Amino acid sequence: MRSLLTDFAILLPGRARRSALLLLVLLTVGAGLEALGIGLILPFLAILGDGGESRGRGILDALQRTTGVDDKDSLLVISAAALLAMYVLKNVYLGLLKYYQFRFVFGRQVDVARRLMAVYMASPYEFHLGTNSAQLLRNVTDEVRHVFANVAAAMANATSEILVILVIAGLLIWAEPMAALFSIGVLAGVSGLFYASVRRTTARLGREKQEATEEHIRSVNEGLGSIKELKVLGREAAFLHRFDRAGRTYARAQRFHRTVRELPRLFIETIGIGAILLVVLAALLQGDRRGLDGILPILGLFALAAVRLMPSLNRLIGAGTTIRLFRPAVRVVARDLERYELVRSQRSQARTEMELREALRLDGVRYRYPGAAVEALRGLDLTIRQGESVAFVGSSGAGKTTVVDLLLGLLEPSDGAVLVDGRDIQSDLSGWQSQIG
Ligand SMILES: Nc1ncnc2c1ncn2[C@@H]1O[C@H](COP(=O)(O)OP(=O)(O)OP(=O)(O)O)[C@@H](O)[C@H]1O
Ligand SMILES: [Mg+2]
Repeated sequence: MRSLLTDFAILLPGRARRSALLLLVLLTVGAGLEALGIGLILPFLAILGDGGESRGRGILDALQRTTGVDDKDSLLVISAAALLAMYVLKNVYLGLLKYYQFRFVFGRQVDVARRLMAVYMASPYEFHLGTNSAQLLRNVTDEVRHVFANVAAAMANATSEILVILVIAGLLIWAEPMAALFSIGVLAGVSGLFYASVRRTTARLGREKQEATEEHIRSVNEGLGSIKELKVLGREAAFLHRFDRAGRTYARAQRFHRTVRELPRLFIETIGIGAILLVVLAALLQGDRRGLDGILPILGLFALAAVRLMPSLNRLIGAGTTIRLFRPAVRVVARDLERYELVRSQRSQARTEMELREALRLDGVRYRYPGAAVEALRGLDLTIRQGESVAFVGSSGAGKTTVVDLLLGLLEPSDGAVLVDGRDIQSDLSGWQSQIG
């Protein structure tokens, strides 16, 4: 099976791929800013802590030297203002980044939907005979939407969350190696276990949901499309039943996914609180010379990191399950888009004159519908002279519509040929079809 990235490479043409890379770079910068925002809290708290602790003292001294301001209160105000300015800048950047991210995601969505629709419209008539339109309808609407609004958005989110998590984790390890490694290890382990326990079910429900969506659309199409017959025959209930069953399958997948997305927050929070308490107790019980005043900055850092780290971890797991649930959508859209080049090369054949001057002839034409057991036409010869009027008469299923579709070039003979003044119409279908009507 192809990888997710290979499938996305098919969805995104060269220019869009470059935008995706740019987005990745911007997301990385965003993660760096997030970390900086948290990292700067530490020296600020150290200054607040009256410089009693050596690290705070050092920072205070450094600030006094660089700014030339001796007064501690002024220094505090300056640091606070700098911190606020930094947060304003960071958040303006992140806001703009979100806008850019969504613009990219939804812009590509429209683009891919259009290309996919173009593929379906340009595909041969036989393709449409063999494919239920409910499936195509689902692909150009629902599936394309899932590819971008769910999978692509989740991929972007996962990228930035991973970066944020790495940077914050690094920061914590730098500040307090033992406690940080321990709590990060526990958090990562539990998150990993949770993800591993739901990923299979999520993938299976994703496939079921995709089929259910097609069935849902199909029962609407067929139920409402043949409402006249259904009413006369009294078969409404059967369609309602199909519709309902598909809806329930869809609901089951959605229910599982949404619940799974909420759960990590709950247990990560529990573990997070436990880790913070552990850090405090360990520091105090070790008879830390720094005392409560000394560990306050560290505690502040941990609390802040937890506030930022836990939601990140939660969103990362959520993104993982979202990608798995909607993975089948990417597969289907990429598969059908690949036909695009094929269809386009067929259409770009040179269009030539195919005017009928003498006769339209069927020469030993055979035709078997895709998947049909028997041939609908078994060697038909027929000549229609220019200017002649012809009627096809026969019992139902005799093959009248099939003959007309072959003459129109909608179907290609399995054997034999349709000839216009001796030229096979397959040699230039659009040239022939431009003469019709
Ligand atoms: N999409 C299809 N897939 C498989 N078999 C088909 C398909 N369409 C038609 N057939 C079969 O091909 C044969 C010829 O069908 P066709 O529709 O050409 O008959 P017809 O003469 O137009 O009938 P009617 O008078 O009912 O319109 C029939 O046996 C039919 O069952
Ligand atoms: Mg017919």
